[in-house]
Amino acid sequence: MKYKSQGIARAYFTVALLLFVLQVIVGLYLAFNYFFTVPQGVVDAFPFSTARAFHTNLLVLWMLLGFMGGAYFIVPEETEREIYSTKLAYIQLILLVGTGVAALVGFLFGWTQGRPLLEIPTLLDLFVVVGALMFLFNIGMTMITARKWTVIQGTLLGGLVFLAVMYLFGIPFYKNTSIDWYYWWWVIHLWVEGAWELITSAIMAFVLLKLTGVERKVVEKWLYVEIGLFLFTGIAGTGHHYYWLAAPRYWLWIGGIFSALEPVPIVLMVLDTWNHVRHRKLEIKNHLTFVYVVGCAVLHLAGAGVLGIVHTLPQINYYTHGSQVTVSHGHLAFFGAYALLNLTIFYFAFPQLKGIVRYDEKLGRICFWTMSLSMLGITLAFGVAGVIQSYVERVMGLGYMTAQGHMKLWMAIAFAFGLVFLVGVIVMVYDLLFMKPARQEA
Ligand code: HEM
Ligand code: HEM
Ligand SMILES: [Fe+2]
Repeated sequence: MKYKSQGIARAYFTVALLLFVLQVIVGLYLAFNYFFTVPQGVVDAFPFSTARAFHTNLLVLWMLLGFMGGAYFIVPEETEREIYSTKLAYIQLILLVGTGVAALVGFLFGWTQGRPLLEIPTLLDLFVVVGALMFLFNIGMTMITARKWTVIQGTLLGGLVFLAVMYLFGIPFYKNTSIDWYYWWWVIHLWVEGAWELITSAIMAFVLLKLTGVERKVVEKWLYVEIGLFLFTGIAGTGHHYYWLAAPRYWLWIGGIFSALEPVPIVLMVLDTWNHVRHRKLEIKNHLTFVYVVGCAVLHLAGAGVLGIVHTLPQINYYTHGSQVTVSHGHLAFFGAYALLNLTIFYFAFPQLKGIVRYDEKLGRICFWTMSLSMLGITLAFGVAGVIQSYVERVMGLGYMTAQGHMKLWMAIAFAFGLVFLVGVIVMVYDLLFMKPARQEA
């Protein structure tokens, strides 16, 4: 760790990891509900809908804290100065975590706006906005006062500002449900297929730059191409969510065509990453980070690119919309692109944050494979359940519960893979939090 204020990242990462564990435990409860009749008393206390809100909000919270911690780690190195205000960064963390806890407790008592992923009430939204402003101010001031601009920090800042601005569209509640969902997608879609992709490009470029020792110019050249394409396909691609919510008919075309192009920048990212990894020049200290970098690139492509494209055309989405096919895609995309991105920066930063040069990477590798393979299992199980659901409900025209009956087995299989996944996550968290120098070094 070159700069003292990079230590802020450690607090953010630690909280993020603990929330990740909680998210996964609640995920198991969700899957369990699909194949086992939970006693009414338990359902009354913790209904599926509340658990789902826990699972998805925890997901967003831990990932955003990870990105913010990542920014606090990267920005000092890029600007070559300390973070503007360390104190503000800690206050921001306390504010955001406090808001998160209040939101979860509120859900238990029915204090919710009811829109998936954005269900926190307006009052809490305002706290989130204050937290986001503190963050952007701190990062922005660090960059402005340093007066040293790099493409990586520009992309990172651009992605973070884009992310914050889009959040604002999700705050008002529109009485017309169609309009409400229209803007809902501005947050959800333009986050994961716009703003977050910019953040991913910046973080990946930073890690590759540091690990491979390639010239900055080479990494930055790709960054321009990737962000240009991500914005071009991602923004118009929002149309793939407007097919069935009473938006004009031309969205079928715009959404279909542009979202079908969305995998292009992701493919480029994989090629780019692979190229850098192959041509690394320096002696590599941290091999494990590479495992996560390559895993992230490949599963990003599989979850977002491949599983995205299979249901993005209106002709297919007509059958699969809102089914477990969507859930299958949602899991592998979020895991591949953003969980592994976070874990990449965690594995890159943690040894430095703890002043460790070389550590035993075995456990980290085992966790990577445990999590990735079991997530592939979860995705496959949800996918099969989704195909059955689409067929029984939308092709055969049978009832919702008839379809559920045929899906049970596959939801149980998802649960079983989920248990393995949870073990992988817990061991990974242990590995990161209690990392020690390798024996030779000690
Ligand atoms: C890393 C990037 C991505 C993430 C994290 C992601 C995640 C998700 C999630 C969670 C949903 C479900 C939202 C909901 O209804 O609650 C969803 C829906 C969808 N995604 Fe993605 N996605 C990504 C990229 C893509 C790409 C690149 C495509 C197309 C090539 C795509 C196509 C779709 C479509 C068509 C739907 C709507 C499914 C439906 O009609 O039910 N996604 N995505
Ligand atoms: C033990 C592992 C996990 C299990 C068993 C699990 C299970 C589930 C279930 C049953 C749902 C509800 C689907 C529905 O409403 O029908 C869900 C939703 C969701 N989970 Fe998980 N989950 C797990 C881990 C994860 C992880 C690691 C991520 C992200 C990295 C994630 C992201 C999501 C998302 C984005 C949704 C909303 C999907 C949508 O709206 O289409 N889950 N999960
Ligand atoms: Fe989308």
